[in-house]
Amino acid sequence: MRFFILLEILSFAASGLAQSSPDILPVVSLISSQVPSQCSPGKSIGVSIDTTKITTSLSEVQFQTTGHGRTGGFANCDFKVELNSWSYNHRVAISGATIRGNANLSDGVKINQFNTTAVFRLEHLNNFSPVTPPEVTNLAMSTMLGELASNEIGGNGIFDDDFEVTVSSPSEKVWSPCFQGSEGSGQDSTFIEFYVSASSSDETGEGSAKLSSGLTVDWDLAWEECTPNSNSTYVNWGSERIEDWQSCIYN
Ligand SMILES: *[C@@H]1O[C@H](CO)[C@@H](O)[C@H](O)[C@H]1NC(C)=O
Ligand SMILES: *[C@@H]1O[C@H](CO)[C@@H](O)[C@H](O)[C@H]1NC(C)=O
Ligand SMILES: *[C@@H]1O[C@H](CO)[C@@H](O)[C@H](O)[C@H]1NC(C)=O
Repeated sequence: MRFFILLEILSFAASGLAQSSPDILPVVSLISSQVPSQCSPGKSIGVSIDTTKITTSLSEVQFQTTGHGRTGGFANCDFKVELNSWSYNHRVAISGATIRGNANLSDGVKINQFNTTAVFRLEHLNNFSPVTPPEVTNLAMSTMLGELASNEIGGNGIFDDDFEVTVSSPSEKVWSPCFQGSEGSGQDSTFIEFYVSASSSDETGEGSAKLSSGLTVDWDLAWEECTPNSNSTYVNWGSERIEDWQSCIYN
């Protein structure tokens, strides 16, 4: 009996250290879209967050035919979500995704590929205290999920149903910076840029592909406790860094 209790305490402690969800969840402050004809903020982009996932619903994403032969279609949205008020002492990673939708595919048309890519961005105002013109902003980015899932849906007569595709977790988690809790109100802005696409192919050129309610993606979240060190974050974080990305001079 005693042995069991000890084991339970140990495993609880271990899981508590490895993964610890925050009490405070980030708040969406701004959404922008690179493809307003497919998805537009305030109209057809929904973002909701709980401790285990960010759900993005793109209700109007639709296949557009590509090329002259009408043999394939491409539905895509590229949108950027600004997230503020992260929980102090935590960092986040995307550990996989699930794509959901409902499709009507006729005459052997199939959806053969999905792309779910998420890039975390930290925009850091370099000369904050005091702000002396010109304001200099550095940009650092890391791709948390960059997955292309090949998955055949349809391809035989008519497919008119719900579908769900699981995107496996990256081989190694890519972590955000360790949050200070002041993101969005001080010198740091944090964003996740999401790219969602689906490709269809129509070998006979006779069929059609339609998404009845667009595409919904659940982006699975992993959390870890950490100790923020802004000095090292600003120098080291990000697989891609652009110093002096944006300069703004006030007259
Ligand atoms: C699915 O597509 C076919 C072919 O375009 C059409 O005849 C059918 O009515 C569609 N079904 C639904 C439920 O929209
Ligand atoms: C998936 O989308 C991202 C973002 O648009 C792009 O950089 C990447 O090349 C795409 N992957 C493939 C294999 O097409
Ligand atoms: C960051 O650097 C400044 C200036 O070098 C130093 O005063 C401060 O203690 C450092 N902070 C941390 C958390 O290392």
